[in-house]
Amino acid sequence: MVLDDLFLDLHGFIEGVDLALKIEGLNPAGSIKLKAAVGLLDDAERRGLLKPGGRVIESSSGNLGIALSSVCAARGYRFTCVADPNTASASVALIKAFGGQVVIVDQRDANGGFLQSRVDYIQARLRDEPDLLWPNQYANQANPRVHYEHTAASIYKQYLNVDQLFVGAGTTGTLMGCVEYFRRHSPGTRIVAVDTVGSVTFGFPPGRRYIPGLGTSRRPEIFRPGVVDEVVMVPEAQAVQMCRRLAGERGILMGGSTGSVLAAVEQRKAEIPAHATVVAIGPDSGERYLNTLYDDDWVRGHFGFVPDPLTAQQPA
Ligand SMILES: Cc1ncc(COP(=O)(O)O)c(C=O)c1O
Repeated sequence: MVLDDLFLDLHGFIEGVDLALKIEGLNPAGSIKLKAAVGLLDDAERRGLLKPGGRVIESSSGNLGIALSSVCAARGYRFTCVADPNTASASVALIKAFGGQVVIVDQRDANGGFLQSRVDYIQARLRDEPDLLWPNQYANQANPRVHYEHTAASIYKQYLNVDQLFVGAGTTGTLMGCVEYFRRHSPGTRIVAVDTVGSVTFGFPPGRRYIPGLGTSRRPEIFRPGVVDEVVMVPEAQAVQMCRRLAGERGILMGGSTGSVLAAVEQRKAEIPAHATVVAIGPDSGERYLNTLYDDDWVRGHFGFVPDPLTAQQPA
């Protein structure tokens, strides 16, 4: 069910870098989060926490919600997704299409994000409805484990000698799974974590963020500090520019977190040795963002500029 062997050759897209992009957007349910959903539900079933007809609740800014609603539909569970105003309307529609319920929490937390508010909502529901299962992707080791077993293993199988691996950080499930795997099987691989300016995961100050996927307003429990080789913080405007450039130059439509990861490679290109094998993970594709990242009015409203259609750069 998981499509784990799709890589796109982006040689030359970032000057001087031999870059391969791992494509996750063609998984069923449209993103890397299919693996997290399967991993979390398998784990709950194995531990006897989910019985036929059971109910699942989870906090998600979109992709895990879509993936869980799809896998819950296939396994006969009812699903409630706790989302926030940054969740794309297309994601809400997809969750509903799979029979999921969507609750939008619009109260910002102390760090200006929504994560703590979403978690508070879930905890209140669990107090009243103890039969609800909360997989809790931010704290559940089944999340990194599934990326250890699938995402990281498939990269290693494809490119035995990966010199540098760029991985975006949301819950940090993908990142922690990759760190664990590569430290064991390929300790020479340099792991570069990519996060969004405004995210607190790596100890930087909180700030407003508008693009779902990367970043947190509260450090995830599964995150282990100090285990990556480098952290690159990318402003969201650069992610938008990179997405637009990839669409304009290569005809490939990717989501915002892929734009961030590519912008991080661009930022670090001077430090990447010639002929190094560089792999970046592209968590989803761009169709869900047609009304946001790829909409000029939305970009102007949120970032105050519209990328030049030819160069995808911010006008001077
Ligand atoms: C588009 C996108 N990119 C990146 C991520 C981050 O992945 P992880 O939660 O494994 O850190 C997510 C997670 O929801 C996502 O939806």
